[in-house]
Amino acid sequence: MTEKNYNSLFEQQKNYVSQINDWNNEYFKLNGKRRKFYCLTMGCQMNAHDSEKIIGMLKDMGYDETANENEADFVIYNTCCVRENAEMKVYGKLGWLKNLKKKNPELLIVLCGCMVQQDTVIEQLNKTYNYVDIIFGTYNLYKLPELIATRIETGSQVCDIWKEHGEIVEDLPTVREYKYKSSVNIMYGCNNFCTYCIVPYVRGRERSRQPEDILKEIRELVADGVKEIMLLGQNVNSYGKNLETPTTFAQLLRQINEVEGLERIRFMTSHPKDLSDELIEAMRDCDKICKYLHLPVQSGSSNVLKRMNRNYTKEHYLGLVEKIKKAIPDIMLSTDIIVGFPGETEEDFQETLDIIRKVRYSTAFTFIYSKRTGTPAANMEDQIPEDVVKDRFDRMLNVLNPIIHEINNSQVGQVLDVLVEDTSKQDENIMTGRANNNSLVHFEGSKDLIGQIIKVKIVDNKTFYLIGERV
Ligand code: SAH
Ligand code: SF4
Ligand code: F3S
Repeated sequence: MTEKNYNSLFEQQKNYVSQINDWNNEYFKLNGKRRKFYCLTMGCQMNAHDSEKIIGMLKDMGYDETANENEADFVIYNTCCVRENAEMKVYGKLGWLKNLKKKNPELLIVLCGCMVQQDTVIEQLNKTYNYVDIIFGTYNLYKLPELIATRIETGSQVCDIWKEHGEIVEDLPTVREYKYKSSVNIMYGCNNFCTYCIVPYVRGRERSRQPEDILKEIRELVADGVKEIMLLGQNVNSYGKNLETPTTFAQLLRQINEVEGLERIRFMTSHPKDLSDELIEAMRDCDKICKYLHLPVQSGSSNVLKRMNRNYTKEHYLGLVEKIKKAIPDIMLSTDIIVGFPGETEEDFQETLDIIRKVRYSTAFTFIYSKRTGTPAANMEDQIPEDVVKDRFDRMLNVLNPIIHEINNSQVGQVLDVLVEDTSKQDENIMTGRANNNSLVHFEGSKDLIGQIIKVKIVDNKTFYLIGERV
């Protein structure tokens, strides 16, 4: 399809946008206040970025945002289902919303995102939660204006879940959470089918955006004050394979590195099985690419990795880490680890501890295995008892945290370039920001520094963040 064609998909929505705008203006004239929306985002950065588009569309339709769910006229939950607790939270909150709707019958309740792409969830919603007004999935976000218009017109529930993705829709209005940094999708979906993971079932097959579309978006962001971008994909290392003119992720990075005015490039997630020498070279050569790599290992046991369908061994992963550290000596590495995958033995678990000790991560996202209906691992024998998993999880943190502390100690005394992000939640005079290597830094300063990259000398290490002083 040509660019013109897919861009016109959102064009079709513009009538609905103005229709709802009129409806909201009418309300404002009658009541002297605007209708408000509340948006709750769960899950990963992919969802967070989708929410920026949802918020962009809602503002275009004349809604104001509120952080107070109680006073909202429109509540939208952008859901995640990667682990069970994310789903439980949504069901819990839906019960509470039922009461809110009793107080305000005009309230519109909207569910979208990964969770509702599952048939079992739709069945559950129909059975117990039929007061939800609008439900849509991960493939048709751009249709939100039309779905709201239909709900208002018909007065009955609108459920629009696509089983498969359509064309990539460009140019949705977006409201960025931060002025000076932004996420940019480079691809959608996942083809890897790790046996524990629900994502390929709810986000569909891999599809990459055209390099020109990505570059255009980045140039516009930079013109609007953005200094740092985060390129998003479930497996960025397989970017571009399905394009008409195949482009590798490393080639894309080199092109992005040329964008004038852009200062930092980050990306996630890199799958170890597809991490190429070409990518390591691009990371070494491009001055804007941050010295930080998120390389999820999941487990240190080659046995478990095989049953997870990760397509690499412990040795291969360690080989990659060695190559990366050699090419970029001051790089920081982070990872995702799952404990308690079905059939994981104490020996397998020891392999995970061993890989943690060998790689020496600066950050790690650690998870207890959660059974996801519909994935192959859910039917595997030897699901691990909860107390065993819990014990392993605690033992893992006991190995991991001292290493994180040691890695951060090596930064005390250094002067780091910090992009100032925000004031600390506890203290208005403390600013927080990120170093190039993704270390979180707190230091005394004022709000006017937000958005600047400044030099900070690290004076103390609090394991999960560093304390610094401006120099
Ligand atoms: N595409 C990314 C990760 C997306 S999900 C990648 O391949 O690395 C983020 C993380 O959630 C995964 O890396 C994994 O560690 C964790 N995860 C996924 N499914 C899970 C499950 N069923 N139980 C526990 N953790 C899970
Ligand atoms: Fe899930 Fe694996 Fe795809 Fe990551 S690569 S999203 S863990 S299936
Ligand atoms: Fe992300 Fe959760 Fe969906 S991790 S892709 S929001 S299932």
